[in-house]
Amino acid sequence: VTPWNEYLSAKYKRSFAYHTVRNRLPVTVTQVLDHLSRKKEELAQSLGEVSREEVKQIIGYFSKLKNEMQTNKPLTPFNSNEVDEKSWNDFLKNSEDSLGRPLLWFADVWLHIECYLYRRIREAFALTQHFHNYDPFRHQKEDAFPGSLQAIAVVGTHLVKVCSSMASADTEKYVVQFLKLSLWGNRCDLSISGGKEIAQVADPLEMISQLDNLILANDLPKVWDVLCKEPSSRVIDIIFDNSGYELFTDLCIAHLLIKLKLADKVRFHAKRVPWFISDVMEHDFNWLIDEMGKQSATPSLLELSKEWKSYLSSGCWSLFDEPFWTLPYSYDCMKDVDTELYNSFKESKLLIFKGDLNYRKLVGDMNWPHTEEFTVALRGFTPAPLVSLRTIKADVVVGLKPGTAEEVAKVDDDWLTTGKYAVVSCFC
Ligand code: F6P
Ligand code: MG
Repeated sequence: VTPWNEYLSAKYKRSFAYHTVRNRLPVTVTQVLDHLSRKKEELAQSLGEVSREEVKQIIGYFSKLKNEMQTNKPLTPFNSNEVDEKSWNDFLKNSEDSLGRPLLWFADVWLHIECYLYRRIREAFALTQHFHNYDPFRHQKEDAFPGSLQAIAVVGTHLVKVCSSMASADTEKYVVQFLKLSLWGNRCDLSISGGKEIAQVADPLEMISQLDNLILANDLPKVWDVLCKEPSSRVIDIIFDNSGYELFTDLCIAHLLIKLKLADKVRFHAKRVPWFISDVMEHDFNWLIDEMGKQSATPSLLELSKEWKSYLSSGCWSLFDEPFWTLPYSYDCMKDVDTELYNSFKESKLLIFKGDLNYRKLVGDMNWPHTEEFTVALRGFTPAPLVSLRTIKADVVVGLKPGTAEEVAKVDDDWLTTGKYAVVSCFC
């Protein structure tokens, strides 16, 4: 069992970290392998015979990677000339112990190991010519989209209606409602489901009204206070998590904040390489905004799609994909590792961090006592007011009232790892 205040790690055999490194991550690699084997012919026809050799090379790379992981080999440095390579290799070097022993899959910090795996998946493609920009998870992200389209239409129609007829007395009610939609949107990720499609099928407006008792720490009132304060800054940052339905709900928040004049600008932050299966990359972002107008006959979605494109071209919305998000560092290191990003966050009125992985990086992936204060767990990462909207999918959670964890554990053994429960944790 993981001791309190220790980093989560696969060295604790009864932990979710162990289950992940032992069982879940090899499945992710196998799925990518199978996908490429299936697509081999199709790819050779469209990209030419040379690509066949490269597919073989990638498949070989993944077989080796799986073997390294399953036999607990040392983590090896990267060697494919990507922009973040030096940062990654420095990190690996600096993490060696005092005897110069490198990190091992089953011995070191889970957060670092899991990020390393996704960066290795990236490297297999970076080393080729034809697949240099290939996203092996794109088909999964896009295939999951139609299943959520009905829910997206319901939320989009509601958003347009709310924006056109909201009485000022109802502002808080709707901002909170959309924050909850975005919070529960985090259930729809392909990493926790092992790549199985998770679509938002139920009517989300009805659903969220029944889930309040599953929010184990709820700082939404604090978030509202931050949003309506007259600040020096009118920029809001949203650090994305997953593509598809969750991303749509994040964009709804951004839309509402602009419409209500609670912000003048929204900066979005995506991943620059394929990450944790369903995380948003620039392509996924543009794809969603295009497809929601095309795949649905709902007039509100077409209207929103057009308006969001105009926000992007006017600079009211902008998208960034800084390499920092796909480094292994927890956020207390941001100030030193990416000072420019940290300084730009100082200009923010509110930083909205989406999802489980961002939460793990905020609190350093440590087994904190569940009653520890969120602010303490941030360990000095406080460039601006911030909120984490997260459904709980990894065995770390802080900010709970005494007794809450014990009560939930009594009725649900898996409460920390299924995404059924959530927290909204705010620093301001
Ligand atoms: O806990 C399981 C897991 O796959 C973690 O590896 C990761 O933290 C998380 O789920 C991904 O979830 P999210 O998309 O919410 O960050
Ligand atoms: Mg994710």
